[in-house]
Amino acid sequence: MAVEPALSALTPGAFSGTVLRSDFAVFDRPTRSGKRLVFLDAAASAPKPRTVVDTMADAYSHHYANVHRGIYELSEDATGLFEAARGKVAAFIGAPSKREIVFVRNATEAINLVAYSWGRANVHSGDRVVTTQLEHHANIVPWQQLTAEVGATLDYVAITDDGRLELDDLREKLGNGPKLLAVAAVSNALGTINPLAEIVKMAHEAGALVLVDAAQAAPHMPIDVAALDCDFLALSGHKMLGPSGIGALWGRRELLDAMPPFMTGGSMITKVTMEGAEWNEVPHKFEAGTPAIVEAIGLGAAIDYLTNLGMDAVREHERYLFERAWPALGEIPGVRRFGPNDAETHAGVISFVLDGIHPHDVATVFDSEGVAVRAGHHCAQPVMLRYDIPATTRASFYVYNDLDDIDALTSAVRATQTLFAG
Ligand code: ALA
Repeated sequence: MAVEPALSALTPGAFSGTVLRSDFAVFDRPTRSGKRLVFLDAAASAPKPRTVVDTMADAYSHHYANVHRGIYELSEDATGLFEAARGKVAAFIGAPSKREIVFVRNATEAINLVAYSWGRANVHSGDRVVTTQLEHHANIVPWQQLTAEVGATLDYVAITDDGRLELDDLREKLGNGPKLLAVAAVSNALGTINPLAEIVKMAHEAGALVLVDAAQAAPHMPIDVAALDCDFLALSGHKMLGPSGIGALWGRRELLDAMPPFMTGGSMITKVTMEGAEWNEVPHKFEAGTPAIVEAIGLGAAIDYLTNLGMDAVREHERYLFERAWPALGEIPGVRRFGPNDAETHAGVISFVLDGIHPHDVATVFDSEGVAVRAGHHCAQPVMLRYDIPATTRASFYVYNDLDDIDALTSAVRATQTLFAG
């Protein structure tokens, strides 16, 4: 049953997700259920627009050779496209220089790079690192490993009942003089948008560097590292309409310059003798081996697509969908929602549970309705512990979603409840 009045009758957001769906070939695909695909799992990995797929096919077909090695036209062509993609990432996040962009596989690798390289060089026995209970495992486990190895302490900032960071607790943890605060811009499990500017200021006043996990923020809202004043930022290409296997670490130039390499091999050196080696300049110092050339070019095409829409408009569109989906779910008896109540601090991600029905069963029934959501702990088990639940069902929105998709979501909830009531 559709929510009354029909949500689709309301004014659309900043642009029409219905129109954008034709940019994505996956929406032409019939589902097992015979119903239209309602894709609400961008937070796990986003579909790819045709322009990304076409750009990658063209790069493989007509512009492919290894980069930074060949003294011939095709290699120079590939190198030019690869380095142009680096420039697009830099511009997308407001980095002062494209030399501060290190291509990695994903945000997980970006965080590991910092934990291994900067961490092993700067965090010593007796030191402290702070992360939060709201993080994805990728922003917890690398710090657990680092602090355990060097004999440092890892502190976790607590979260409130409505899924925000406890800023008083953060202040207290920062008061212990940590070397680093590692914090997400947006929670993947709850959708909370953290007050980053305030957090970075607090951390810097306490003398800590700040690493921002922007895996769930960079795809959905404007990011400006210069304005944020953070020190490191990690992002994944596959969550922002780009291919998998490519992501980026941004770091302040002076920090990257001072850090030892994370991986060693070809490309990251200027000289190798039998006695030793000298390192290339950043970012190449951190890019050992042949990189993900076409994936980087594909990420550049995804950034072009998003930039063309405008990141303010992307955020506005998702806020619009959230503002309708949140109350629509809330008015259904037996639905428990998690995370902040207001659209200002809640991205287009809604985690919920249905009384008495396991989230895996919920997702299975949703699938039979053509609705794709993620169910589980979302690689954020400490968040599940906080609310004493094993898992949630998570619906996450992106540019191709519209109000019909929100109707489909609420209808799928009712269908699931009906099935389990019977
Ligand atoms: N980190 C991804 C998610 O939140 C996989 O679903």
